[in-house]
Amino acid sequence: MKNGILQALQAASPIQLEAHTLERPVYAHLGDFAMPCFQFAKILRKSPAIIAEDIAASVAHPSILKAEAVNGYVNIFLNRTAISSDILRTIIEQGNSYGSSNEGNDGVVTIDLSSPNIAKPFSMGHLRSTVIGNSIALLLEKSGFKPVKINYIGDWGTQFGKLLTAYRLWGNEQDVRHAPIETLLKLYIRFHDEAEQDPSLNDKGRAAFKALEDGDADALNLWTWFKTESLKEFQRIYDLLGVEFDSYNGEAYYNDKMMPIVQELMDKGLLEESDGAQVVDLGENIPPCLIRKSDGATLYATRDLTAALDRKNTYDFVKSIYVVGNEQSLHFTQVKQVLRKMGHTWSDDMQHVPFGLILQGGKKMSTRKGKIVLLEQVLTEAIELAQRNIAEKNPTLANQKEVAEAVGVGAILFSDLKQHRKHDIEFNLETMLQVEGETGPYIQYTNARAHSVLRKSGSIGPIEIDEVNDYEWETIKLLEQFPNAVKRATDDLDPSIIAKYAIDLAQAFNSFYGNIKVLTDHVNLPYRVALIQSVSIVLTESMRLLGMKAPKEM
Ligand code: ARG
Repeated sequence: MKNGILQALQAASPIQLEAHTLERPVYAHLGDFAMPCFQFAKILRKSPAIIAEDIAASVAHPSILKAEAVNGYVNIFLNRTAISSDILRTIIEQGNSYGSSNEGNDGVVTIDLSSPNIAKPFSMGHLRSTVIGNSIALLLEKSGFKPVKINYIGDWGTQFGKLLTAYRLWGNEQDVRHAPIETLLKLYIRFHDEAEQDPSLNDKGRAAFKALEDGDADALNLWTWFKTESLKEFQRIYDLLGVEFDSYNGEAYYNDKMMPIVQELMDKGLLEESDGAQVVDLGENIPPCLIRKSDGATLYATRDLTAALDRKNTYDFVKSIYVVGNEQSLHFTQVKQVLRKMGHTWSDDMQHVPFGLILQGGKKMSTRKGKIVLLEQVLTEAIELAQRNIAEKNPTLANQKEVAEAVGVGAILFSDLKQHRKHDIEFNLETMLQVEGETGPYIQYTNARAHSVLRKSGSIGPIEIDEVNDYEWETIKLLEQFPNAVKRATDDLDPSIIAKYAIDLAQAFNSFYGNIKVLTDHVNLPYRVALIQSVSIVLTESMRLLGMKAPKEM
């Protein structure tokens, strides 16, 4: 809509306008849009007041009801009834596909997300990657791309030699079966402690990894078992979050596929010796990228290079993104640069999408002194708290367990996604779960409220609108902006745009609903019900894009 108005103003203006010239006034009596004319005074050698009057007199557009010149501004008032009926009809007709587009032209976008390390706890960082990556996938899909979600499991590297050695020395089957990740982590820590006294352990670890790499059956069996048990634990978290993946090809998958890449680097004259290791030099500003250690072992970067090439071959992506914490920025810069040096110009389509930390009391949240906070406990705690809230406030509600899960998980998702991903975020379960303020439960509750009105009102007649009051209009203007919010969020790979949009819409709706007695007024009922229905369609779709569930009652 803004574009249409801008074009109409352009036709009436003697000077080139830009999008930011058009403001949205805070007060309704100043119109829906306002254009200040002060910056044109010098060029046109006229007073701003006169310029504004000239433009106001000649601007014309079917959506414009009137244009007024006030104090050097052109204030534009839109035709509320025509626009409202248009938007409500569109939303009700299109339902949850409102805001969808074909912008992506079916282009494939690979998304590297979650990617936890087996035999290690699923960290807060992995949670953020999962939640942000999943929302980005949903946004891309809505905008007509084909997202491919890849869980690049960390299941390879010298640490597994250490773990195998530790298990053989001190481990037992029952403990691993009972609590896989906790047990394996303890073994791994013990290995490091004991290796300080007894350095020969390190040799054993290296030998065990070598055996694993060479396909030794016993080593491979143990490793496969550790992996299966770890993945089972991760799966419980994915189930709670409602996230699925298209591929689990992780680091181990690339173990036997790296040599052709190393060979290609060699053939292209890019490999250099440095302290016995082989590296690719990346100039003065970036440290060289390590490809092979002196003992011939490959590295994290070697596997990522191989994976990047494999993804290009397999999916022919238009874009390949990596949702991984800030701290790995250098790694991704190096991988991209190496590919570029190899002549793969598509490396320009690779993008690291970094994010900040989750803090608790201002400090990085990962371990509580000595004890690991398994993420699952955090999620369970959120669900339990939500369940208690429901039992207290709405004891007769059906499906309490299901709703508590939607609310508890939704609270965590929303508090993560409402801020720009680059910010560190503070973790506080109590605040996240509040039904007031900028929280997930607030959005869910607002939507449930809308559904409750819809249940009471029954089916509605044709939408006829004689008048649109300020509360309704604020809400409708926001509804109109949803497709644009989706577009911006997709372009910037930024789910926080949708989260903030949902807060604005929920607030506008609540102030409409708090001020207008929709069901008892008997005025404009079909139209107002259509408005409420549209709000619930758009809120539900916003929540879906964030990975949240939208209970109809809570
Ligand atoms: N497993 C790694 C970690 O936990 C993250 C992997 C990110 N993805 C990648 N392609 N390197 O730190």
